[in-house]
Amino acid sequence: MNRKTAGDIKSMEKAGRMAAETLRFVEKYLKAGITTNEINDLAHDFILRNSAIPACLNYHGFPRSVCTSVNHVICHGVPDDTALKDGDLINVDVTCIVNGFHGDHSRSFLIGNVSPEVKKICRVAEEAMWKGIEILKPKVTTGDIGYRIDKFTQKEGYFVVRELGGHGIGRNFHEEPFIPSFGKKGKGFPLAPWCAITIEPMINQTEAPIKEIDIPGSSIKVYETGDGSLSAQFEHTVLITDTGYEVLTQV
Ligand code: MF3
Ligand code: CO
Ligand code: CO
Repeated sequence: MNRKTAGDIKSMEKAGRMAAETLRFVEKYLKAGITTNEINDLAHDFILRNSAIPACLNYHGFPRSVCTSVNHVICHGVPDDTALKDGDLINVDVTCIVNGFHGDHSRSFLIGNVSPEVKKICRVAEEAMWKGIEILKPKVTTGDIGYRIDKFTQKEGYFVVRELGGHGIGRNFHEEPFIPSFGKKGKGFPLAPWCAITIEPMINQTEAPIKEIDIPGSSIKVYETGDGSLSAQFEHTVLITDTGYEVLTQV
């Protein structure tokens, strides 16, 4: 977990802002009828127009520039010719590279008229992410973060995904430490000032074991809920400062 220099931080801020601007740009097009490939192409072209690099494209063989995870898809959904429908929940996960540094950001979006259960899991996933972010400062541990996310999620009647979570980030897309969405207070890895991590809890409606689906030509897997129930996720890239934190993935 390496400390960022002042120069690194400038680049991380640019990469984070780029990811946030990309999501803000594609958000306008998220309506019933658009395909996930069209969402991918809008994001891809926007990132290139702004002189950044889409980190997902060819990452361990991943075939698209963003991940689009609809309804029961937990994460790493591969954009294809599926059109969004009224009532869908879609997570769009964008990672941009600027000056060699990564900014990783996702939000879940509601398509048209959604049921109260879709609305609720989306709200809880966003709040769960903030529960993890709010406490960030040096010496807070990965266990402290996970504990808070899990406690809040359980209180709302949902289940965190244990197999996947946040990560250190910088010149590499995924770095140490792993940031689980569950844990024990004071346990795990203590955060150091000027390191960067992502907070990205995945929240499921049920405890059904998750499914892993292969992507041809890639070592990345798509993850889905085992019983077809809903999953939602939000993600920010955050810098640990000397006294607290700075959210990097904002416009
Ligand atoms: N953006 C994802 C994360 O939050 C990783 C996607 S890797 C890809 O860590 F290859 F699927 F794009
Ligand atoms: Co991430
Ligand atoms: Co991401």
